[in-house]
Amino acid sequence: MAYLSDEKKKVTSQMFIEMKHRGEKITMLTAYDYTMASLLDQAGVDAILVGDSASNVMQGNMTTLPITVDEMIVYGRSVAKACSHALVICDMPFGSYQASREEGVRNAIRIVKETGCDAVKLEGGSEIIETVRGIIHAGIPVCGHLGLTPQSVNKFGGYGLRAKEEAEAQKLLDDALMLQAAGCFAVVLEKIPAALNKKACEMLHIPVIGIGAGASDGQVLVGQDMLGMNQGFAPKFLRRYADVATVIQNAVKQYVQDVRNADFPSIEESY
Ligand code: KIV
Repeated sequence: MAYLSDEKKKVTSQMFIEMKHRGEKITMLTAYDYTMASLLDQAGVDAILVGDSASNVMQGNMTTLPITVDEMIVYGRSVAKACSHALVICDMPFGSYQASREEGVRNAIRIVKETGCDAVKLEGGSEIIETVRGIIHAGIPVCGHLGLTPQSVNKFGGYGLRAKEEAEAQKLLDDALMLQAAGCFAVVLEKIPAALNKKACEMLHIPVIGIGAGASDGQVLVGQDMLGMNQGFAPKFLRRYADVATVIQNAVKQYVQDVRNADFPSIEESY
């Protein structure tokens, strides 16, 4: 049993579908390390996504493209160890599943085997459907991801709203149905019009987890963004629930001052 377990039942991918059918909203946040994942898990979030946004948040890269399978495995393993309640989903990074079904299946197996994560997430629809089928066939639950798929930023030319036009909106709905038919347990829809998202939620029996997509069966945000740790990132869809950046900076300023003034450590804090 993991550190500080509260003995709550571990969420499974099947439970996601049951939650949608009961009309219960699903909560998901990203995390990439043990300490943060422990806090999110103990606070009762349903799922933790080890997003390839680690490339931006943890490594300071401009895109999610450079992060590797080896790096995702380090983050995924740290998060999986921390979670006794939340379902842990690990992103498959760019280049780990696009070339062939066989390579995608091998990398998914490696990620699950070496991290202990419960499921994987892949970006794309019809283009990767054979790989999605192969991964599910291998016994690994898969979450889809459509709309703004950051691994395709160079194809899109930026991070703007997707599926505004009829053709792209129709392809998104077709892809979502295809992912559901292939056996995906959920699909993330990122940065699309709320009306299209509503259509997808009504059409699918698997849950839609939205980010910048309006009301959905569930929501996902990047943990550091919703905690206010990343002050430079302020898209319209982001609600900040805390100002952790200020808390950290004030604590560090106080520490620096205390050490410089010889206030820390005190007699009581010494052996
Ligand atoms: O990598 C990530 O954090 C994601 C979410 C934003 C959905 O894919």
